[in-house]
Amino acid sequence: MEENREQWGSKLGFIIAAVGSAVGLGNIWRFPYIAYTNGGGAFLIPYFFAIFTAGIPLLILEYGLGHKYKGSTPLAIAKVKKKWEWLGWWPTINAFIILTYYSMILSWAVNYLRFSINKGWGSDTDAFFHTDFIKLSSSPFDFGGMILPILIGIAIIWFISWFICYKGIKAGIEKANKILLPALVIIMIIIAIRAVNLEGAAEGLNTLFTPDWSKVMDPKVWVAAYGQVFFSLSLAMGIMMTYSSYLPKKTDINNSAFMTAFANCGFEFLSAIAVFSILGFMASAKGIPMSEVVSSGVGLAFVVFPAVFTEMGSVGTLLGVLFFLCLLFAGLTSSVSLIEAVSAPFIDKFGWARNKVVAIICLIGFSIGILYSTGAGLYLLDIIDNFINNYGIVVVGLLEVVLIGWIVNPDIVREHTNEISYFKIGKWWNICVKFVTPTILIFMLAQSIITEIKTPYGGYDLSALFAYGWSIIGFGIILALIISKKQWKNRNISE
Ligand code: ALA
Repeated sequence: MEENREQWGSKLGFIIAAVGSAVGLGNIWRFPYIAYTNGGGAFLIPYFFAIFTAGIPLLILEYGLGHKYKGSTPLAIAKVKKKWEWLGWWPTINAFIILTYYSMILSWAVNYLRFSINKGWGSDTDAFFHTDFIKLSSSPFDFGGMILPILIGIAIIWFISWFICYKGIKAGIEKANKILLPALVIIMIIIAIRAVNLEGAAEGLNTLFTPDWSKVMDPKVWVAAYGQVFFSLSLAMGIMMTYSSYLPKKTDINNSAFMTAFANCGFEFLSAIAVFSILGFMASAKGIPMSEVVSSGVGLAFVVFPAVFTEMGSVGTLLGVLFFLCLLFAGLTSSVSLIEAVSAPFIDKFGWARNKVVAIICLIGFSIGILYSTGAGLYLLDIIDNFINNYGIVVVGLLEVVLIGWIVNPDIVREHTNEISYFKIGKWWNICVKFVTPTILIFMLAQSIITEIKTPYGGYDLSALFAYGWSIIGFGIILALIISKKQWKNRNISE
């Protein structure tokens, strides 16, 4: 069955969907903080270096493989080397695990969208979030009761994602991205314009961009830059290969990779400018140093920002609604890409119908969401996210470049993309795939393992790190190996 594979309506539709996948929570709450803590303006050197030596080369690699072999990640990899098929299933499983916590964060955003209308978080936003809203329990094994608003939010997110994905590539994913991504960009521009005009914004931007050159020589800063570029460009999550498998035969892959990377990078800067202007306002309104207001992730979005919106009065209500809409839109376009990265492999491998596969994935995902709607949800997110990012994504990325760079020949991808692309990539790409990216990824991995041994992540008990961290990594690999041993339906894949 060398099939009637679904296709994007246009190349633009594909790029919008790929950018929609890339632009996610990572851009809004991760990048500004990572840039600030890793040298501010000076961080831009390792950041751009990472984009050019790993981000774009890996995008070309993933787009090239998906397109050349017309397959979701496991199919494309199996066609490259049958024995390595499991390497396509591992990111598929990782994508599903990411989805389980991504949907919880989006459920929080749905709830906070509601709270932002009447500033329902009250005056102590920290206590509100941790005690009243997520009802954080005493440890990762203490689940406490179920929190209904969070569960309802998770159900809403899975329902919307299901609705988008079951309709397929062109009528579902492409259409949704064409609405959500421009809406997201417009909203973020509005927030940024308002933010830079706030009292104290200049101070915030100075803090963000003032370069601390001493950091450029610090290897940790380089590791942070590569980690950010990987997560933000949705690399090694099984997404980009799957998305490019729906492209028509003649498509400019090289150009698409550059466009995706630059668009994502542009949005990252826009978010950083908005976030730091708003934090600058907060610091100046309270008369405290910037270092006391800066935070990342959960703390930024659900504790610091709500406090800022309250401080701003009525403008804060509007900015609050817009901010949580942004999180929601950015997150939804990424979560549909993750669902597609999980469904397409099963459709390809077992020949099951799309609507069934998508429904089953969403139902299982929602059922796991029940665990996340307990008082232990934040612990689960924190531990699982750390392990998937530091080990899952990094090792998959590393094995991808080892497979293409060393086991087979990088020219199988480069020649393919050059043949169909207007501008050609030179041998520099082979050097990145063979030497630069693997060296940095090995270094990243070694560093994560050493840090983990010295100080187990987040001060958690080893039993919790084992139960939710290491075992998830082990489970992913074992399940990947098991599925890869099964027969492909209607396909003959030889060595
Ligand atoms: N690339 C997505 C993000 O940045 C996963 O959140």
